[in-house]
Amino acid sequence: MNAQAFAPLAQPNARYSRITGTGSHLPPRRLSNDDMTALLAQRGIETSDAWIVERTGIRARHFAADGVNCSDLALPAARAALEAAGRTADDVDLIIVATSTPDMVFPSTACILQDKLGANGCMAFDMQAVCSGFVYALSVADSMIRGGMARCALVIGSEIFSRILDFNDRTTCVLFGDGAGAVVLEASAEPGILATDMHADGRHVGILCVPGTVSGGQVLGDPLLKMDGQSVFKLAVGVLDSAARAVLERAGRTEADLDWLIPHQANIRIMQSTARKLKLPLSKLVVTVDEHGNTSAASIPLALDTAVRSGRVKRGDTVMLEGVGGGFTWGAVLLDF
Ligand code: UT7
Repeated sequence: MNAQAFAPLAQPNARYSRITGTGSHLPPRRLSNDDMTALLAQRGIETSDAWIVERTGIRARHFAADGVNCSDLALPAARAALEAAGRTADDVDLIIVATSTPDMVFPSTACILQDKLGANGCMAFDMQAVCSGFVYALSVADSMIRGGMARCALVIGSEIFSRILDFNDRTTCVLFGDGAGAVVLEASAEPGILATDMHADGRHVGILCVPGTVSGGQVLGDPLLKMDGQSVFKLAVGVLDSAARAVLERAGRTEADLDWLIPHQANIRIMQSTARKLKLPLSKLVVTVDEHGNTSAASIPLALDTAVRSGRVKRGDTVMLEGVGGGFTWGAVLLDF
């Protein structure tokens, strides 16, 4: 049992939360666009590297092996983030896993991960906000830390979207991949997270969904991903801009203060449009969609960790994270790293 979970949590000087470590994990099986083209050709479906690159910017994605679950991808990402933060599982008093592809219907993947990490006793739950899941989870962890309910949170996005793809639908199956990213978020006297802005509009449930469910021991409805790509595209471009402006205003900052923009990695055209609207040079846009595809809730922490480990995002940099996806959900987090 983690003794710290029962110690008083209040820290008089800790008015903020701050990311103290990042980690990520990709399953080893990498499929290039040519690999996907060959895979779909076996089903008589045509696609091409040229179409996928031109419309999305994606060149490759990773797929988990059979038998590997969401918590298995989350575990090495979480361990890497803890190591980077100089923390151990015993220090963790909150685990949030953002995922739409959990190990089980219940219990939560966060509880399964907690056991694998050996961080027993702390609070653990999943966040379901699809591709916005990580920014939602980060904003909840920030509130809980600032409210004194937690001191050291593991916030993770982990997904195995390859399990919910329809490989007979070329308009979606070439877009998504598997992976996990994690951050350690700790109570801090210095910011940290400067502002968050989260939204949902349930009128758009149908434009991006997996409509099936489990009932009476059977799968009812279609358990594979459906997306009206153009509707998602149009909504995403508008809401990402408004969320970005909201967090900048809340934090009393301007676009000129931004060192990095790390949006959800779904389509390079959406990401570049967001950067252009903020008048950011494209050199300040972190792009991993080319190598990861769209990993839903994992995409932002995967991109953040990639940028941190490559030496681009440094301590003190001002970073904007932006999520958008099924629900329809969206949100932004502005932070000093
Ligand atoms: O993670 C949540 C957030 N998700 C997103 O942000 C996704 C947002 N949407 C998008 O990224 C884009 O809408 C897509 C990448 C999904 C599609 O790009 P598009 O430029 O909107 O293409 P489209 O749907 O207008 O399709 C254009 C053409 C169609 O052919 P016709 O009707 O013009 O003859 C499609 O059938 O491209 C065809 N097409 C393909 N061709 C080759 C669609 N998928 C493929 C494919 N390979 N994989």
